[in-house]
Amino acid sequence: MYDVNKIRKSFPILSRKIGGEPLVYLDNASTSQKPETVIRAVTDFYRGHCGNVHRGVHTLTEETTAIYEEARSAVARFIGAAESAEVVFTKNATEAIHLVAWSWAWERVGEGDEIILSEMEHHSNLVPWQILARERRAKLKMLGLGPEETLDPHELERLITERTKLVTFVHVSNTLGVINPAEEFCAIARRRGIPVFIDGAQSVPHIPVDVSRLGCDFLAFSGHKMLGPVGVGVLYGRRERLEAMRPFLAGGGMIDRVSEEGATFNAVPYRFEAGTPAVADAAGLAEAVRFLEEIGMENVRRHEEALTRRALEAMGRIRGVSVYGPDDPALRTGVISFNLAGVEPHALGRFLDSKGVAIRAGDHCTQPLLRALGITATARVSFYLYNTPEEVDFFIALLEQAAERPRPEWSRLAGR
Ligand SMILES: Cc1ncc(COP(=O)(O)O)c(C=O)c1O
Repeated sequence: MYDVNKIRKSFPILSRKIGGEPLVYLDNASTSQKPETVIRAVTDFYRGHCGNVHRGVHTLTEETTAIYEEARSAVARFIGAAESAEVVFTKNATEAIHLVAWSWAWERVGEGDEIILSEMEHHSNLVPWQILARERRAKLKMLGLGPEETLDPHELERLITERTKLVTFVHVSNTLGVINPAEEFCAIARRRGIPVFIDGAQSVPHIPVDVSRLGCDFLAFSGHKMLGPVGVGVLYGRRERLEAMRPFLAGGGMIDRVSEEGATFNAVPYRFEAGTPAVADAAGLAEAVRFLEEIGMENVRRHEEALTRRALEAMGRIRGVSVYGPDDPALRTGVISFNLAGVEPHALGRFLDSKGVAIRAGDHCTQPLLRALGITATARVSFYLYNTPEEVDFFIALLEQAAERPRPEWSRLAGR
């Protein structure tokens, strides 16, 4: 384990006050806070190096290119990619998902073909496939919630047919926190020669993720959820998959030769990075990766599991609180969605904000999942490596206060 109070000193925002109260940031599944080293990497780039990448012959552009490519190597190392060419920088996880949908799937999924995904997908890994399926006259097949609300490998076996062209699923649910059996899913699909695309937006920041061990073909995630800057995301793709894909966006940097009639395209990963990339943000992401590596992802996981256990045990004792997802913290990350009977989640969120505690309320971009659970919204807390047991206790004390508050007061707060 590590000294969380020492870690907290690296995050300037954590000493902020909200309405006079110390900030307790429990909305990490939405976005994470940034350590000083990440912020400095971004400003250092603009202060000392700013050029454009892969172009020109002057010192600044050479330094910029080196910074950008070092960031790619850092990310490749962090996720266990075989080589840095397997890391494509995107704007965020959503763009990485689109890259797979339009550059890989569009040409390979036709009428009557099937894509398997799950009921617990974030809209980012659902809506693009819905659009693609409609346009290509393909079919989406949905895995439902399995035992302990994880996805069930047996159901995957059952859904696969000879028309299955892709299996895609969320590694860790941003609503339930469940850790899905990704390795088993990859093994099942692989035995049938079906490519697997994993939405790792909530796993890569919180648990050790090694693409070589997982055996996936593609993995998408966002820098901003893992201590990095907003504006940079990643698509990991196995080299042979990327090599066989058509470009995504077209323009500068992604071409080899251009004539009036047409163009040939650059090698991977540059083929998928048209235009000027977010170099400063990539430099920040590299620092985020270094920060996480220094602590160790096993330690991050252990820390969050302890906070989750503490929160779940206490929440189980508060009358009127229902928690979604598995009871066992070993099966989930530090994302806890819950409802307090008779209290609208947004009103609860506003009450907690008035005490300095930041949580999320809403459908978490998972409307089909909430429908399957028979609800329309939840409140959600989500922990990260800088949260403390005392913060969990403070949140619990406020939740207890909230549970005791007469319900008509809540109706007024909710503006009804
Ligand atoms: C599971 C999951 N997938 C995808 C996304 C989309 O990430 P972004 O908005 O950074 O593209 C999110 C964001 O909350 C997420 O939680």
